Amino acid sequence: MNEIKFYNGENIPLELHKVRVVQKLHLVPIERRLEALQEGGFNTFRLNTKDVFLDMLTDSGTNAMSDNQMAAMMQADDAYAGSQSFFRLQKAVEDVLAKKYYLPVHQGRAAENILSNAYVRKGNLVPMNYHFTTAMAHITQYGGKIAELLYDEAYVIDSSHPFKGNMNIEKLEEIIKIHGAKNIPFIRMEASTNLIGGQPFSVQNLRDVRAVADKYNIRLVLDASLLGENAYLVKQREEEFKEDSMGAILQTMTGLADIVYFSARKLSSSRGGGICTDNLDIYRELEALVPLFEGFLTYGGISVREIEAMAVGLYETLDETMISQSPAFIAYLVNALDAKGVPMIKPAGVLGAHVDAMQVCEHISQKEYPAGSLAAALYLISGIRGMERGSISNQRDEYGNETFADMELVRLAIPRRVFTLSQIKYVEDRMNWLYENRKLIGGLRFVYEPPVLRFFMGGLEPVSDWPQKLIAKFKEDFGESL
Ligand code: F0G
Repeated sequence: MNEIKFYNGENIPLELHKVRVVQKLHLVPIERRLEALQEGGFNTFRLNTKDVFLDMLTDSGTNAMSDNQMAAMMQADDAYAGSQSFFRLQKAVEDVLAKKYYLPVHQGRAAENILSNAYVRKGNLVPMNYHFTTAMAHITQYGGKIAELLYDEAYVIDSSHPFKGNMNIEKLEEIIKIHGAKNIPFIRMEASTNLIGGQPFSVQNLRDVRAVADKYNIRLVLDASLLGENAYLVKQREEEFKEDSMGAILQTMTGLADIVYFSARKLSSSRGGGICTDNLDIYRELEALVPLFEGFLTYGGISVREIEAMAVGLYETLDETMISQSPAFIAYLVNALDAKGVPMIKPAGVLGAHVDAMQVCEHISQKEYPAGSLAAALYLISGIRGMERGSISNQRDEYGNETFADMELVRLAIPRRVFTLSQIKYVEDRMNWLYENRKLIGGLRFVYEPPVLRFFMGGLEPVSDWPQKLIAKFKEDFGESL
């Protein structure tokens, strides 16, 4: 897409949409923000949105919906079986993702549950470019293990590598030889690899993975939750595809996978999810699990209104103007903070801007959760809710030992077409202030640690009175300003 140039030479992303429905936000005083943190166990997942100013927790289910999606919701056909809404969605899946068979599920992790239930057995290994929390939790729940096969470059924070989500092909072959193809139920490739900062893979890399999968006769599963953005970055960064349409790139990618699954909360700015394939045998293997876990095959636990929104949302992922908005805002924020010296994951990826808490909080050991501490501190001084993507989000190993994350990140999600540029500038300002006062941030410790996916509902407390010290400095610099 052609960038719109400003006469004054400024390089800012211009919104190509207008706001027609709005929601009032609340920026509560810093004293209330401290109470909210205490009530929510210093875990941003547990905050109430009445205490949150800019909700940058996630883009999941929070992307702005279009007028056409809202309109489509009005024509939903409420039927337990055979709903017309479902057939419209099925057609959208076929048109956009080019897969014949579609199984609806209520969200992405439900697809992961079904795939793990069908294919993962005790002692199996699932190679993947990188794990996502829920994908890993389901695989391990069914007795499997995962192998993460990124190239070393993926872990470099300050990088210019265009495809940090690429899978290491040599390591993939090595792992298959060691473990044996029969112990590998599928290879999982995740588009716009979430936990390393929303970093894409190239189509060439996916082709190389496909070739290995063919050689050893192993299924290739594509997590397409963030496929639209991955396709957009392929168009920007992979020479071969720079003249191609979004649709052509999307279909080149889905065409290389045996099974494509997605969270519609991300892919199509709606709720819901799905699994699709061209292979009738695979479809039959998975079919029976949908009524068991989700609901009848023509709704899969999704409201019919959302099914309509998903269908329209899928077509809208073909619109480069829509897909590019969030990556453009992310690049703006990443570059602005980078210019101020704040360590950010680079190059700017998708779904959010990612701050490197390992560097910002280098004085906090991983045992005291630098990323969780930074997320809590940022909320305290700004009302901005980010998400910890570090060791708190990791799960303990099979012996119950803490495992430290490769990266300690705070993700500031920028859902599609939700925020304005002045709000992004506020994020830039407060994050910059916090970076200059980073030595005042202290660590956290668990007071309540759930056994599975602990980051969602876990409770923590500060290891010292650092929140009070941070508040005192805030008052000194900002006076009575919220
Ligand atoms: N795969 C990827 C790559 C995801 O980012 C997510 C969710 C899922 C699968 C699971 O989908 O939430 O619909 O069950 N990511 C959300 C996030 C939770 O905040 O990044 P789900």
